[in-house]
Amino acid sequence: MAKRIDVSGLSAYYGAHKAIDDISMTVEPRSVTAFIGPSGCGKSTFLRTLNRMHEVTPGGRVEGKVMLDDENLYGSHVDPVAVRRTVGMVFQRPNPFPTMSIFDNVAAGLRLNGKYKKSQLNEIVERSLKGANLWNEVKDRLNKPGSGLSGGQQQRLCIARAIAVEPDVLLMDEPCSALDPISTLAIEDLIGELKERFTIVIVTHNMQQAARVSDRTAFFNLAAVGQPGKLIELDDTERIFSNPSVQATEDYISGRFG
Ligand SMILES: Nc1ncnc2c1ncn2[C@@H]1O[C@H](COP(=O)(O)OP(=O)(O)OP(=O)(O)O)[C@@H](O)[C@H]1O
Ligand SMILES: [Mg+2]
Repeated sequence: MAKRIDVSGLSAYYGAHKAIDDISMTVEPRSVTAFIGPSGCGKSTFLRTLNRMHEVTPGGRVEGKVMLDDENLYGSHVDPVAVRRTVGMVFQRPNPFPTMSIFDNVAAGLRLNGKYKKSQLNEIVERSLKGANLWNEVKDRLNKPGSGLSGGQQQRLCIARAIAVEPDVLLMDEPCSALDPISTLAIEDLIGELKERFTIVIVTHNMQQAARVSDRTAFFNLAAVGQPGKLIELDDTERIFSNPSVQATEDYISGRFG
Protein backbone atom coordinates (compact mmCIF):
# COMPACT_ATOMS: atom_id res chain seq x y z
CA MET A 1 0.00 0.00 0.00
CA ALA A 2 1.39 3.37 -1.00
CA LYS A 3 2.40 5.59 1.90
CA ARG A 4 3.35 9.22 2.42
CA ILE A 5 6.97 10.02 3.26
CA ASP A 6 7.63 13.01 5.48
CA VAL A 7 11.27 13.91 6.03
CA SER A 8 12.35 16.54 8.52
CA GLY A 9 15.75 17.96 9.41
CA LEU A 10 17.62 15.11 7.77
CA SER A 11 21.42 15.21 7.51
CA ALA A 12 23.68 12.32 6.53
CA TYR A 13 27.38 11.81 7.16
CA TYR A 14 30.22 9.58 5.96
CA GLY A 15 32.44 9.71 9.03
CA ALA A 16 33.19 13.39 9.58
CA HIS A 17 32.02 14.40 6.08
CA LYS A 18 28.50 15.76 5.98
CA ALA A 19 27.07 14.75 2.59
CA ILE A 20 23.57 16.23 2.87
CA ASP A 21 22.32 18.96 5.13
CA ASP A 22 19.01 19.52 6.86
CA ILE A 23 16.59 18.19 4.27
CA SER A 24 12.86 18.42 4.83
CA MET A 25 10.29 17.31 2.28
CA THR A 26 7.08 15.40 1.78
CA VAL A 27 6.56 12.74 -0.87
CA GLU A 28 2.94 12.06 -1.71
CA PRO A 29 1.63 8.50 -1.96
CA ARG A 30 0.74 7.15 -5.43
CA SER A 31 2.99 9.68 -7.11
CA VAL A 32 6.41 9.81 -8.69
CA THR A 33 8.95 12.23 -7.26
CA ALA A 34 12.16 12.82 -9.24
CA PHE A 35 15.45 13.86 -7.62
CA ILE A 36 17.70 15.88 -9.90
CA GLY A 37 20.94 17.79 -9.36
CA PRO A 38 24.66 17.73 -10.17
CA SER A 39 26.91 14.77 -9.43
CA GLY A 40 27.95 14.61 -5.79
CA CYS A 41 25.06 16.67 -4.41
CA GLY A 42 23.83 13.72 -2.36
CA LYS A 43 20.85 12.35 -4.29
CA SER A 44 21.86 8.71 -3.82
CA THR A 45 22.85 9.29 -0.22
CA PHE A 46 19.50 10.89 0.54
CA LEU A 47 17.65 8.10 -1.27
CA ARG A 48 19.45 5.52 0.87
CA THR A 49 18.45 7.30 4.06
CA LEU A 50 14.83 6.61 3.09
CA ASN A 51 15.20 2.86 3.63
CA ARG A 52 18.01 2.82 6.20
CA MET A 53 20.61 1.66 3.70
CA HIS A 54 22.88 4.63 4.35
CA GLU A 55 23.94 3.33 7.75
CA VAL A 56 25.19 0.10 6.14
CA THR A 57 28.18 2.07 4.78
CA PRO A 58 31.01 2.16 7.35
CA GLY A 59 30.88 5.58 9.05
CA GLY A 60 27.38 6.18 7.67
CA ARG A 61 25.26 8.16 10.11
CA VAL A 62 21.92 9.95 9.90
CA GLU A 63 20.33 12.76 11.90
CA GLY A 64 16.69 13.74 11.63
CA LYS A 65 13.43 12.00 11.01
CA VAL A 66 11.78 10.03 8.20
CA MET A 67 8.10 9.39 8.80
CA LEU A 68 6.35 6.73 6.71
CA ASP A 69 2.72 7.63 7.39
CA ASP A 70 2.83 7.64 11.18
CA GLU A 71 5.98 5.63 11.84
CA ASN A 72 9.45 7.14 12.24
CA LEU A 73 11.84 4.83 10.34
CA TYR A 74 14.60 5.94 12.72
CA GLY A 75 12.57 5.20 15.85
CA SER A 76 14.53 3.23 18.45
CA HIS A 77 12.31 0.13 18.23
CA VAL A 78 12.38 -0.06 14.41
CA ASP A 79 14.07 -3.01 12.69
CA PRO A 80 16.08 -1.74 9.67
CA VAL A 81 15.60 -5.05 7.86
CA ALA A 82 11.83 -4.65 8.08
CA VAL A 83 12.19 -1.08 6.78
CA ARG A 84 14.07 -2.32 3.71
CA ARG A 85 11.21 -4.72 2.99
CA THR A 86 8.67 -1.90 3.25
CA VAL A 87 10.77 0.54 1.24
CA GLY A 88 12.20 -1.34 -1.75
CA MET A 89 15.10 -0.26 -3.91
CA VAL A 90 16.11 -0.66 -7.55
CA PHE A 91 19.70 0.19 -8.41
CA GLN A 92 21.48 1.79 -11.34
CA ARG A 93 22.98 -1.46 -12.64
CA PRO A 94 20.52 -4.33 -12.84
CA ASN A 95 21.68 -6.75 -10.16
CA PRO A 96 19.80 -10.04 -10.45
CA PHE A 97 21.28 -12.87 -8.37
CA PRO A 98 23.38 -14.36 -11.18
CA THR A 99 23.19 -18.04 -10.35
CA MET A 100 19.48 -18.00 -9.53
CA SER A 101 16.71 -18.72 -11.99
CA ILE A 102 14.30 -16.01 -13.10
CA PHE A 103 11.67 -17.55 -10.84
CA ASP A 104 13.96 -17.69 -7.82
CA ASN A 105 15.12 -14.12 -8.35
CA VAL A 106 11.55 -12.90 -7.99
CA ALA A 107 10.78 -15.28 -5.13
CA ALA A 108 13.97 -14.49 -3.20
CA GLY A 109 12.49 -11.84 -0.90
CA LEU A 110 9.39 -13.91 -0.24
CA ARG A 111 11.46 -16.97 0.69
CA LEU A 112 13.25 -14.87 3.31
CA ASN A 113 9.87 -14.42 4.96
CA GLY A 114 9.57 -18.16 4.73
CA LYS A 115 5.86 -18.82 4.98
CA TYR A 116 4.66 -19.34 1.43
CA LYS A 117 3.33 -22.52 -0.17
CA LYS A 118 4.61 -23.40 -3.65
CA SER A 119 1.25 -22.51 -5.19
CA GLN A 120 1.30 -19.08 -3.52
CA LEU A 121 4.86 -18.48 -4.70
CA ASN A 122 3.85 -19.36 -8.27
CA GLU A 123 1.00 -16.93 -8.09
CA ILE A 124 3.04 -14.05 -6.65
CA VAL A 125 5.95 -14.59 -9.06
CA GLU A 126 3.56 -14.51 -12.01
CA ARG A 127 1.76 -11.42 -10.71
CA SER A 128 5.06 -9.60 -10.06
CA LEU A 129 6.48 -10.44 -13.48
CA LYS A 130 3.24 -9.23 -15.06
CA GLY A 131 3.43 -6.09 -12.93
CA ALA A 132 6.94 -5.48 -14.23
CA ASN A 133 5.81 -6.05 -17.85
CA LEU A 134 8.18 -9.00 -18.19
CA TRP A 135 5.92 -12.04 -17.94
CA ASN A 136 5.32 -12.57 -21.66
CA GLU A 137 9.03 -12.49 -22.38
CA VAL A 138 10.06 -14.99 -19.70
CA LYS A 139 7.08 -17.24 -18.93
CA ASP A 140 8.59 -20.10 -20.94
CA ARG A 141 11.99 -19.90 -19.31
CA LEU A 142 11.37 -19.24 -15.64
CA ASN A 143 13.96 -21.82 -14.67
CA LYS A 144 16.75 -20.24 -16.72
CA PRO A 145 19.22 -17.94 -14.97
CA GLY A 146 18.27 -14.27 -14.57
CA SER A 147 21.69 -13.28 -15.83
CA GLY A 148 20.74 -14.63 -19.29
CA LEU A 149 18.30 -11.75 -19.87
CA SER A 150 19.05 -8.49 -21.68
CA GLY A 151 19.93 -5.42 -19.61
CA GLY A 152 16.43 -3.97 -19.89
CA GLN A 153 14.88 -7.33 -19.03
CA GLN A 154 17.21 -7.71 -16.05
CA GLN A 155 16.15 -4.29 -14.76
CA ARG A 156 12.48 -5.28 -15.10
CA LEU A 157 13.36 -8.53 -13.28
CA CYS A 158 14.83 -6.46 -10.45
CA ILE A 159 11.65 -4.39 -10.38
CA ALA A 160 9.59 -7.61 -10.24
CA ARG A 161 11.77 -8.79 -7.35
CA ALA A 162 11.26 -5.47 -5.56
CA ILE A 163 7.46 -5.42 -5.96
CA ALA A 164 7.00 -9.12 -5.13
CA VAL A 165 7.19 -8.34 -1.40
CA GLU A 166 4.54 -5.60 -1.81
CA PRO A 167 6.55 -2.65 -0.52
CA ASP A 168 4.91 0.69 0.32
CA VAL A 169 7.59 2.70 -1.43
CA LEU A 170 9.88 2.01 -4.39
CA LEU A 171 13.18 3.89 -4.56
CA MET A 172 15.00 3.89 -7.90
CA ASP A 173 18.52 5.22 -8.30
CA GLU A 174 19.11 6.03 -11.98
CA PRO A 175 17.32 2.82 -13.01
CA CYS A 176 17.66 3.51 -16.75
CA SER A 177 21.19 4.85 -16.99
CA ALA A 178 22.58 1.50 -18.17
CA LEU A 179 19.76 0.88 -20.64
CA ASP A 180 19.10 1.55 -24.32
CA PRO A 181 16.32 4.01 -25.31
CA ILE A 182 13.70 1.31 -25.93
CA SER A 183 14.26 -0.40 -22.58
CA THR A 184 14.28 3.05 -20.98
CA LEU A 185 10.85 3.83 -22.40
CA ALA A 186 9.60 0.42 -21.23
CA ILE A 187 10.75 1.21 -17.68
CA GLU A 188 9.25 4.70 -17.84
CA ASP A 189 5.88 3.27 -18.92
CA LEU A 190 6.13 0.78 -16.12
CA ILE A 191 6.80 3.52 -13.57
CA GLY A 192 3.61 5.23 -14.75
CA GLU A 193 1.68 2.03 -14.00
CA LEU A 194 3.39 1.27 -10.71
CA LYS A 195 2.59 4.66 -9.20
CA GLU A 196 -1.02 3.60 -8.88
CA ARG A 197 0.10 1.15 -6.20
CA PHE A 198 3.36 2.49 -4.82
CA THR A 199 4.98 5.73 -3.74
CA ILE A 200 7.90 6.15 -6.13
CA VAL A 201 11.09 8.17 -5.85
CA ILE A 202 13.48 8.15 -8.81
CA VAL A 203 16.93 9.71 -9.14
CA THR A 204 17.74 10.68 -12.70
CA HIS A 205 20.29 12.72 -14.62
CA ASN A 206 17.97 12.76 -17.60
CA MET A 207 15.88 15.93 -17.54
CA GLN A 208 13.49 14.64 -20.20
CA GLN A 209 12.97 11.54 -18.10
CA ALA A 210 12.22 13.56 -14.98
CA ALA A 211 9.76 15.65 -16.99
CA ARG A 212 8.13 12.54 -18.52
CA VAL A 213 7.73 10.31 -15.48
CA SER A 214 7.42 12.48 -12.40
CA ASP A 215 4.64 14.45 -10.78
CA ARG A 216 6.99 16.37 -8.49
CA THR A 217 10.66 17.21 -8.90
CA ALA A 218 13.22 18.00 -6.21
CA PHE A 219 16.37 19.88 -7.19
CA PHE A 220 19.45 19.36 -5.02
CA ASN A 221 22.64 21.37 -5.22
CA LEU A 222 26.00 22.04 -3.54
CA ALA A 223 27.06 25.54 -2.56
CA ALA A 224 30.67 24.51 -3.32
CA VAL A 225 32.78 21.38 -3.68
CA GLY A 226 33.19 19.76 -0.26
CA GLN A 227 30.03 21.40 1.08
CA PRO A 228 27.02 19.22 1.88
CA GLY A 229 24.20 18.95 -0.65
CA LYS A 230 20.96 20.75 0.06
CA LEU A 231 17.42 20.59 -1.23
CA ILE A 232 16.98 23.78 -3.23
CA GLU A 233 13.47 23.44 -4.50
CA LEU A 234 10.63 20.91 -4.64
CA ASP A 235 7.57 21.61 -6.73
CA ASP A 236 5.25 20.23 -9.38
CA THR A 237 7.40 18.91 -12.22
CA GLU A 238 5.62 21.11 -14.71
CA ARG A 239 6.47 24.18 -12.69
CA ILE A 240 10.10 23.18 -12.06
CA PHE A 241 10.64 22.81 -15.81
CA SER A 242 8.69 25.90 -16.88
CA ASN A 243 8.96 28.46 -14.12
CA PRO A 244 11.11 27.42 -11.14
CA SER A 245 11.28 29.75 -8.14
CA VAL A 246 15.05 29.61 -7.67
CA GLN A 247 17.65 30.84 -10.18
CA ALA A 248 19.97 27.87 -9.50
CA THR A 249 17.20 25.47 -10.56
CA GLU A 250 16.64 27.42 -13.76
CA ASP A 251 20.39 27.39 -14.49
CA TYR A 252 20.61 23.65 -13.92
CA ILE A 253 17.63 22.58 -15.99
CA SER A 254 18.58 24.87 -18.84
CA GLY A 255 22.14 23.52 -18.87
CA ARG A 256 23.80 26.75 -17.77
CA PHE A 257 25.28 24.99 -14.80
CA GLY A 258 28.83 25.25 -13.45
N1 LIG B 1 30.74 5.40 0.53
C1 LIG B 1 31.09 6.69 0.65
N2 LIG B 1 32.08 7.08 1.49
C2 LIG B 1 32.43 8.38 1.61
N3 LIG B 1 31.84 9.39 0.95
C3 LIG B 1 30.86 9.07 0.10
C4 LIG B 1 30.43 7.72 -0.11
N4 LIG B 1 29.44 7.72 -1.02
C5 LIG B 1 29.24 9.02 -1.37
N5 LIG B 1 30.09 9.83 -0.70
C6 LIG B 1 30.17 11.31 -0.82
O1 LIG B 1 28.93 11.88 -0.48
C7 LIG B 1 28.60 12.94 -1.38
C8 LIG B 1 27.28 12.64 -2.06
O2 LIG B 1 27.43 11.51 -2.89
P1 LIG B 1 26.19 10.83 -3.64
O3 LIG B 1 26.67 9.58 -4.23
O4 LIG B 1 25.03 10.76 -2.71
O5 LIG B 1 25.89 11.94 -4.77
P2 LIG B 1 24.92 11.85 -6.03
O6 LIG B 1 24.15 13.13 -6.05
O7 LIG B 1 24.14 10.59 -6.00
O8 LIG B 1 25.94 11.86 -7.25
P3 LIG B 1 25.83 11.15 -8.70
O9 LIG B 1 24.88 12.01 -9.47
O10 LIG B 1 27.21 11.22 -9.24
O11 LIG B 1 25.34 9.76 -8.51
C9 LIG B 1 29.79 13.06 -2.34
O12 LIG B 1 30.65 14.06 -1.84
C10 LIG B 1 30.44 11.70 -2.25
O13 LIG B 1 31.82 11.78 -2.53
MG1 LIG C 1 24.04 8.92 -7.28
